Amino acid sequence: KKPAGAPDKALAKPVTKVGVLGAGYMASQFALLFLRRLQVPVVITDLDQDRVDKGVAYITGEIDTLLGKGRISSDEANRLKALVHGTTDKSEFADCDWVIEAVFEELSIKQDVFAEIEPIISPEAVLATNTSSLSVEEIGAKLAHPERLVGFHFFTPVAVMPLIEVVKTGKTDDATLSTAMVTAAKLKKNAVITADTPGFVVNRLLAVLLGEAMRAVDEGTPFETVDEAMAPLGLPMAPSVLLDLVGLKVGAHVLDTHHAAFPDRFYRSEKLHELADYGTLLEKDDKGKVKGFDKGALKIIAG
Ligand code: 3HC
Repeated sequence: KKPAGAPDKALAKPVTKVGVLGAGYMASQFALLFLRRLQVPVVITDLDQDRVDKGVAYITGEIDTLLGKGRISSDEANRLKALVHGTTDKSEFADCDWVIEAVFEELSIKQDVFAEIEPIISPEAVLATNTSSLSVEEIGAKLAHPERLVGFHFFTPVAVMPLIEVVKTGKTDDATLSTAMVTAAKLKKNAVITADTPGFVVNRLLAVLLGEAMRAVDEGTPFETVDEAMAPLGLPMAPSVLLDLVGLKVGAHVLDTHHAAFPDRFYRSEKLHELADYGTLLEKDDKGKVKGFDKGALKIIAG
């Protein structure tokens, strides 16, 4: 079925090399997905070599995990490892036809990152942003060709979450939108086209849920009680576990962005900012996965 608002597939441009700006957790997760599903070279960059190396180490570690689980052959593991390349030299992006960013969620940083890369890449290349709640059109404000920019918003854990929000700005052209939709399908994700409004669709709803969970905590109900009370609703994760998975800093930032856009509708939690300084709410195992909440994993009682 053709997704609502999707332009003709024939307009899509080929994606033969992917550039990833940012080598943090989200960027590394989707860099791996591009590698696996498109089987094309993926170049990944960040501010310094240390961050780049950590991103590449995550990707190669996940490739080894897939190999260990028997999901890919050793030939494929070697091929994928050979296709990924980390660098601080942006000139290696020159022949990318799809460039996606997941740098720090700050408007001016994202604007500058795109303004820096645009003169290096081909005029035909599509630019995508994984922003979770900033205006995609504003992110493209410094671009000479904002019509080639589209939002491409993944959800964590990228390997298993089925959705991508494709965000169309007032300027995105049909070839760009079509390339985004066809690329999402190749990644085996379900893509929906959303308007360029704060939080798009999913985070707009999640910000209500997580914001109200934080408000209850700030008003004196312990986090454990909030989680326990929500359990019968059948959510895949308790609010504290979901906040931890998203990252407390990112979660606080998403709530702030929604609050700034609609102060009377979204809650901004100072306590969440304080908790973010601790890094995590939950005990994790040695692979960084949270232990089950029901096993008493909450280590900071925020009530
Ligand atoms: N990283 C990578 N993979 C993970 C993972 C993680 N943190 N957690 C789980 N997985 C993988 C597992 O390895 C497993 O894969 P496998 O079958 O290949 O081994 C698969 O997910 C299922 O894991 P589990 O068996 O542990 O299954 P669960 O039933 O516990 O499901 C879950 C895990 C899919 C993460 C489920 O709890 C869930 O859907 N949670 C909600 C997540 C969510 O809402 N994400 C959106 C956050 S908002 C966001 O990202 C937007 C941003 O802008 C803020």
